[in-house]
Amino acid sequence: MREGRAVQYDRYGGFDVVDVVRQERPTPGPGDIVVEVVSAGLNHIERFLREGKLRDHVELTFPAHQGTDFSGIVRVRGSEVRDLKVGDEVMGRAPDGGAHATWIRVPRRAVIKKPSQLRWEEAGGLYLAGATALSVVDSLSLGRDDTVVIGAAAGGVGHIQCQLARRAGAFVVALGSPRNHDYLRQIGTVPVAYGEGEEERIRQAANGRPITAFIDNHGESAAEELAERLGVRPERFVSSEERRDIELRFLRAPVEDEEARQMLERLAKIVQDRTVQVLISGFYPFEYIVDAYADLAQMKSRGKVVIGMQTVETGSRLGWYRSEKARDLPEKEAPARPRQAEIAGNTEASADETAQVSAGGTD
Ligand SMILES: NC(=O)c1ccc[n+]([C@@H]2O[C@H](COP(=O)([O-])OP(=O)(O)OC[C@H]3O[C@@H](n4cnc5c(N)ncnc54)[C@H](OP(=O)(O)O)[C@@H]3O)[C@@H](O)[C@H]2O)c1
Repeated sequence: MREGRAVQYDRYGGFDVVDVVRQERPTPGPGDIVVEVVSAGLNHIERFLREGKLRDHVELTFPAHQGTDFSGIVRVRGSEVRDLKVGDEVMGRAPDGGAHATWIRVPRRAVIKKPSQLRWEEAGGLYLAGATALSVVDSLSLGRDDTVVIGAAAGGVGHIQCQLARRAGAFVVALGSPRNHDYLRQIGTVPVAYGEGEEERIRQAANGRPITAFIDNHGESAAEELAERLGVRPERFVSSEERRDIELRFLRAPVEDEEARQMLERLAKIVQDRTVQVLISGFYPFEYIVDAYADLAQMKSRGKVVIGMQTVETGSRLGWYRSEKARDLPEKEAPARPRQAEIAGNTEASADETAQVSAGGTD
């Protein structure tokens, strides 16, 4: 198979500007590999870029491509690549985007071998959320004497931060909707509902421990003041803007960036030893990419939203799943036809793959 499909857009905008176009398998440069993508993550920051909300930070050139983290199989390697072979399973990052595609050409340094016990979808959604979470938690040097409040704790970035903070020995007060509290307890945190009265609930959850750090993922306008009232020193408050800047840095890190590479290696190791487990909120076939973006935009994910380019083993069953249980979304029928993601004349695979979609949740 040489021909694939890739997400592309040629102007700023919402879902309506997203097209799926035909893609020829690229030819690698000497130091590159071409990967057949199995799974790739979705990230808000890429949506914000597409919508033009971050033009002050990053000016896109069009046509633009989307998708930063991915897992897949090496199909072609450049003449200078010696330590990977065709057929190797890898996970990595796309410094120039473009992972929402059948094929991606990346420099060898942008990938590492995928740990065998890591599922495709876990590996595919790991890099950007994981690097952001790790960098934020690193910046606070959390330890056993810390009690940290983490906002949007069950989200794609938050659930990794919670586990990293616990791993560092900190006591974690996790802000989230009550429907997420059981999960947040399972990962060792003390959950607290956000909203009116949260200050008192946080104090009760801390149970007399001094609150020493605060991570505001969501961007609450009053979060900084809340942290101050709770006694958190300003340098131990991480704002949503700071987190966004970290995310942007890892999103666009050039391939030579040593820290981005180390992040990938550290994340693989942490996930491999199961001290952090990536939760998949929704795993969508590529044909449903618009639904996947719409799901993410609901801001109700519990864990990561990812897409899959091909059918893979997903643990207890073979095939795709779309986990509706993870969110407060009404159960809905799989659309009879793929939305948006169908291009004129290219109907290959969609009929078979659509038939494999299961509406049942797995979490
Ligand atoms: N400042 C920026 O530019 C920037 C950049 C990236 C992300 N963010 C924001 O950071 C948040 C988390 O990012 P993510 O990548 O982890 O996304 P995500 O996976 O979509 O996060 C979803 C989580 O956000 C929480 N959330 C939704 N509305 C909330 C509210 N009003 N107050 C507090 N939490 C709320 C939800 O918590 P419950 O389901 O428990 O209610 C959900 O678990 C998102 O809201 C995102 O928009 C901001």
